[in-house]
Amino acid sequence: MGNTSTYFPEMDFDAVYRGEGPFQAPWDIADPQPAFVAVEQAGGIVGAVLDSGCGTGENAIYLAGRGLSVTGLDAAPTAVERARQKAVERGVEATFEVADALALDRYAQRFDTVVDSALAHIFDVPTLRRYAASLHVACRPRATVYLLAISDEGRDVMIERFREAMLRAGREDAAAEEWTSAIPRKRADELRDGFAEGWELESLEKTVMRTVLPPGSGYVDIGAWLVHFRRL
Ligand SMILES: C[S@@+](CC[C@H](N)C(=O)[O-])C[C@H]1O[C@@H](n2cnc3c(N)ncnc32)[C@H](O)[C@@H]1O
Repeated sequence: MGNTSTYFPEMDFDAVYRGEGPFQAPWDIADPQPAFVAVEQAGGIVGAVLDSGCGTGENAIYLAGRGLSVTGLDAAPTAVERARQKAVERGVEATFEVADALALDRYAQRFDTVVDSALAHIFDVPTLRRYAASLHVACRPRATVYLLAISDEGRDVMIERFREAMLRAGREDAAAEEWTSAIPRKRADELRDGFAEGWELESLEKTVMRTVLPPGSGYVDIGAWLVHFRRL
C-alpha cells in the first residue's frame, strides 16, 4: 500500500506472501491467534465479523468454523487468494475480498465485531485515525473492535530473533537490516490516540502475539497489546 503513511511505507506485503520478501512472514502462522480464541470463547465475538487485514485467513477461518459470519479483507491479493483456498480445503464458509482498510465505504454499517491481528500496529497515529474513521463507517453502532498489536517489549524480542536469524543465514545486507529496524510496535497511548474519535475504550490488556521467529522455526509468543474499543 504505497499510498498509506505507515511505519512500513515501503513494505510490499504481497511480495512477502509471494515469497519474494527478505523473510517469510513471521505473523503467518498456521493457527488462529490465542488472544482471539480466548475472546471468542468468552463470548466477545458476535454477529457479522470483519477480520481486517486478514492475511491468509487463519483468524477468520477459525471464527467462521465457530459458526460466525465472517468477512476477511486484505490489501494483498496473494493473501486473499490463499485464504480462500484454505477455507475451501477446510470446508469452512467465509468471504475473503481484496480491500483497503482505510477506505471501507462500500462496507458501510456491515459489521458487529472487528478483529485485527497486526494491521493497526503497522500504522502511525495519523493513519490510525484514518483507520478508526474507516472502521467507524463499516461498523454498526455499539460494534466492537479488538486490536492485537506488538508492544515495545514484543518488538525488542522480534528484532533480536531476526538479527540472530540474519547472522545464521549470512544475511547482513542493507535491505534485510532496514526491514528489521522497521518492525513496528505500538505504545498503548498511540492505540488510544488513534481511536479517540468515535470510539470508547473498553479494555486494554497485555497479552501475546504468536509468531514464527525466526521464519521456519517453531512458534514464539511475543509481548503484545489487546485493545478493545466500542463504536459510539
Ligand atoms: C502483519 S500482517 C498480519 C496479517 C494477518 N492479520 C495475520 O495475523 O496473519 C498485516 C496485513 O495487513 C495487510 N494490509 C496492510 N495495509 C493494508 C490496508 N491498508 N488495507 C488492508 N490490508 C492491509 C497486509 O497485506 C498484511 O496481510
